[in-house]
Amino acid sequence: MANEIQWHEVLPDLTLLPEGRVMTAVADGHREICLTHYQGKICALDNRCPHQGGPLGEGSIEKGLLRCPWHGWDYDPCTGKAPGYDDGVPTYPVEIRDGALGIRVTRQAELEEAMNRVLAHPGTALLEVCTDPALI
Ligand code: FES
Repeated sequence: MANEIQWHEVLPDLTLLPEGRVMTAVADGHREICLTHYQGKICALDNRCPHQGGPLGEGSIEKGLLRCPWHGWDYDPCTGKAPGYDDGVPTYPVEIRDGALGIRVTRQAELEEAMNRVLAHPGTALLEVCTDPALI
């Protein structure tokens, strides 16, 4: 069950993200995703920059790299790797269904994210942030 894959729509129409553009999308009502379209590939990354949490979906593609709008750190627009470093931005597998773009997330990852939101916001109940009560 933990490895069961969930598909969450993030973009109803692929034409909303033209080549060379970056945008923020929301999956499952809460998960912010940075979508990139570069050299014909559409990719999904976590929207939080690892530096200080800048919104990568408000960034831009500069010289082939995704540039964070806050302090200018660069990442590969598809792999999320920072040039010259082993780490970078977490990514999500994407899948197109009926013309809509979605990300695939395991139930385990969803539960971990819900737990992190509870820890980040003391006083929040897990049931308030977990989109699928069956996970609990
Ligand atoms: S928050 Fe992204 S570069 Fe600083």
